[in-house]
Amino acid sequence: MLEHYVKKILQARVYDVALETPLSEARFMSKRLNNQVWIKREDLQPVYSFKIRGAYNKMAQLTEAEKAKGVIAASAGNHAQGLAMAAKVMGVKAVIVMPRITPDIKVQAVRARGARVILKGDAFDEALEHALELIKEHGYTYVPPYDDPDVIAGQGTVAIEMLRQHPDPIHAIFVPVGGGGLIAGIAAYVKYLRPEIKIIGVEAEDAACLKVALEKNKRVTLDQVGIFAEGVAVAQIGKEPFKICKNYVDQVITVTSDEMCAAVKDIFEDTRGVAEPSGALSLAGLKKYVEQTGTKDTNLICINSGANTNFERLQHIAERTELGEKREAILAVGIPEHPGSFKNFCKIIGRRRMVTEFNYRYADPKNAQIYVGVQVKPSSEDRSELIQQLKEAGYPVVDLTDNELAKLHIRHLGGGRTPSDCNEEIYRFEFPERPGALLNFLNNLGQDWNISLFHYRNHGAAYGRVLVGLQVPNGDRPNVEAYLDKISYRYWRESDNPAYQLFLR
Ligand SMILES: Cc1ncc(COP(=O)(O)O)c(C=O)c1O
Repeated sequence: MLEHYVKKILQARVYDVALETPLSEARFMSKRLNNQVWIKREDLQPVYSFKIRGAYNKMAQLTEAEKAKGVIAASAGNHAQGLAMAAKVMGVKAVIVMPRITPDIKVQAVRARGARVILKGDAFDEALEHALELIKEHGYTYVPPYDDPDVIAGQGTVAIEMLRQHPDPIHAIFVPVGGGGLIAGIAAYVKYLRPEIKIIGVEAEDAACLKVALEKNKRVTLDQVGIFAEGVAVAQIGKEPFKICKNYVDQVITVTSDEMCAAVKDIFEDTRGVAEPSGALSLAGLKKYVEQTGTKDTNLICINSGANTNFERLQHIAERTELGEKREAILAVGIPEHPGSFKNFCKIIGRRRMVTEFNYRYADPKNAQIYVGVQVKPSSEDRSELIQQLKEAGYPVVDLTDNELAKLHIRHLGGGRTPSDCNEEIYRFEFPERPGALLNFLNNLGQDWNISLFHYRNHGAAYGRVLVGLQVPNGDRPNVEAYLDKISYRYWRESDNPAYQLFLR
C-alpha cells in the first residue's frame, strides 16, 4: 500500500500552480522548548493553504471529456479556493456550492478565482446534496476535499519537500487533521522512506474524529463538531485516509481553541505570518507533546497549513492567546466596598504581575465583586500561588480561567445600573501603559471618593484606557475636577453621555 502511494506522490502534478514552500526554523519556539522547531510554510501558497496541491493533482488526472464538462465541489473553505484556482489555471469550468451562511469574504475569494458560486442551504450537508444533484444533471466531476487517492497524493508532496529540506534526523512531524487527506499523504511518504520519524496527528479537541476512529479501530461519526477551526471541522475521518492512518499514524494529540490561539501568536512571533486557527493547530500539538513527554534536543516539524482568516477575527484570537498560553488568570474576587479597598487589592497583586483586565460595578454598600485578569507564568502553579496569596489576604476568590461563560460574555456584561442614591460621576481616562501603570493611576486617583465603576482592559497599546465612576457628594464636582486636573492624566467627563445614561445610569 505504501509503495503504491509513494509512487502516486512522486508522480503527483502540483507545481504548475503550487510553490515549494520554505521550511523555516522557529527560533523563539526552539529556544522556549529546548528543541529545534521547524515550520513548513504552506500559508505561503498562492491560495494561502496547501489545499491547492490535492485539488490540482486530482484535476490533472481527469480525461479531456471530464474536463470539458467541468468540476464541482461543496465547500466553504480552503478546498473551494484551491479548486477554483486549479480550474482557472487549467481553463476548466468550476462550480462551488456553499452554504448560504458562508461569509462574504470567502464567497468573493472564490468568485475572484473565476469559479461559479451557488449559495444553497443552511448547512454543509444541504450544499453537498445540491452539488450531487447538479452532477446528475450536468455530468460535472466531483472533486472531494480529502477522501480520494489523487487528492491524498497531491497533499503528500508536502512530505517530499520536508524530507529533502531536512535531511538530518527528525524526531516527529506534527500534522493538522480534518478529514485526513494531508496526514495520509504525509504518513504514506514518510513511513516508507524514514519509518523512524513519528507522525503525530493534531486535532481540535471538539472535532477529534481521527482520535476516536483509532481508539475504536473504525470510522465513527461525531455527534457534534466544534467549528472554531473551520478548516478541520469534520465529523468523520475519510475512508481512504483512514486506511493509511490506522497503520501509519503514531499518535493523535488534541488541543483546545485557546491553545490554537496561543499558537497563532507563536507563529506570528517567529515568522511574522498570521495563521488561521487550523493553520496553527499542529504547532499547538507540538508544544503539548513537548510539555507532556519532556522531549529535548530533537528536530520537530509542524505545518502552518493555512492563513485564510477574516481580519476582524484576529481581535478575538489575540484576546484568547494569553489564556491559551496559561499566562492569564481570570478571577472573580470579593472586596469590601469602601474608598481605597480597590487600591489595596492592586497592591496585593503587586507590581511584579501585570493586571490585564479590571471590571467592577458598585452593587451593594458592603461588598463589591470584581472581575480581574492577571498575567501569570505559564504554569498552573503560578496561578494557584496567586489565588493562595489573595485568599491569605482575606479575599474570597473564584477561579474563572477555564469558564467559557465568563471569558466570552460576562467580561462584557458585568455591571448594570447604579442605585439611584449613588451620586455617580463618570470619567474616561488615558494613561501611558507600562508595568505598574494601573497601580500608579489608582494611587493618583486618591481615596477621597469611592469608586463605583471601573473598566480596564490592557490591549497591548501604548495607552491604557479606563472608565471610572466616582461617588461624588452633591456640590463636590468642582473639587473632583480640580483634583483630576492636578494629577494631569488626560480625561473626559462622560456623565451626560447617552450611552452611559441608557445602559448604566
Ligand atoms: C488550513 C487547513 N489545515 C488543515 C486542514 C485539514 O486537512 P485534511 O482535511 O486533509 O485533514 C484543512 C482542510 O481543509 C485546512 O484548510
